[in-house]
Amino acid sequence: MDALKLLLERRSSKALEAPGPQGEALETILQAALRVPDFLELRPYEFLIAEGEGRERLGRKFREAAIAAGRPETDVKRAPSMPLRAPLVITVVAKARESDTVDLLEQRMTAGCAAMAMQMAALALGFGGIWRSGWPMFSRRLHELLDLAKDDQIAGFLYLGTPKKPPEPAPRVDSRDYTRWL
Ligand SMILES: Cc1cc2nc3c(=O)[nH]c(=O)nc-3n(C[C@H](O)[C@H](O)[C@H](O)COP(=O)(O)O)c2cc1C
Repeated sequence: MDALKLLLERRSSKALEAPGPQGEALETILQAALRVPDFLELRPYEFLIAEGEGRERLGRKFREAAIAAGRPETDVKRAPSMPLRAPLVITVVAKARESDTVDLLEQRMTAGCAAMAMQMAALALGFGGIWRSGWPMFSRRLHELLDLAKDDQIAGFLYLGTPKKPPEPAPRVDSRDYTRWL
């Protein structure tokens, strides 16, 4: 796929089904994440991969986190099925690395770039996906259940699979609305 076309026309897909990326395709997607800009090569990320029953295990953690956070009953009920919305869910973790030079924000931006790179690689391979957050991203209990350290932060959940329908074309935005020339 042409790189500019991918950049300019990419869309997210909410409704996803099997097949999802596996094997070589998944490895290509992970390699794209490992190639993002990364100051001092701290590799401030970790990718928690859930497919098949792994998604059910993640869903059970979502449920426990929903209860711990005192989320409404509808959220608690819905939690176990959230990761089942795609054949593959990658929890993108911004891992906090010790550094006197690279600020935590810079490290977290690297993890964000990794999420974007993986979504783009998935699209280039013919899959679709969506980067999600919601309350689980900010649940400290979920962080504990995933064995994350105090300053680690979930950067999002990348849902990947095959789009159930082709996405609508992206609207054109006027760059002047978001630009100032200095
Ligand atoms: C950090 C982050 C978190 C997001 N969380 C959600 C989410 O929880 N639910 C959702 O529908 N979209 C979420 N989005 C937006 C989607 O990923 C997507 O960009 C949006 O649906 C617009 O579609 P498009 O990418 O085709 O423009 C999030 C995006 C980012 C960058």
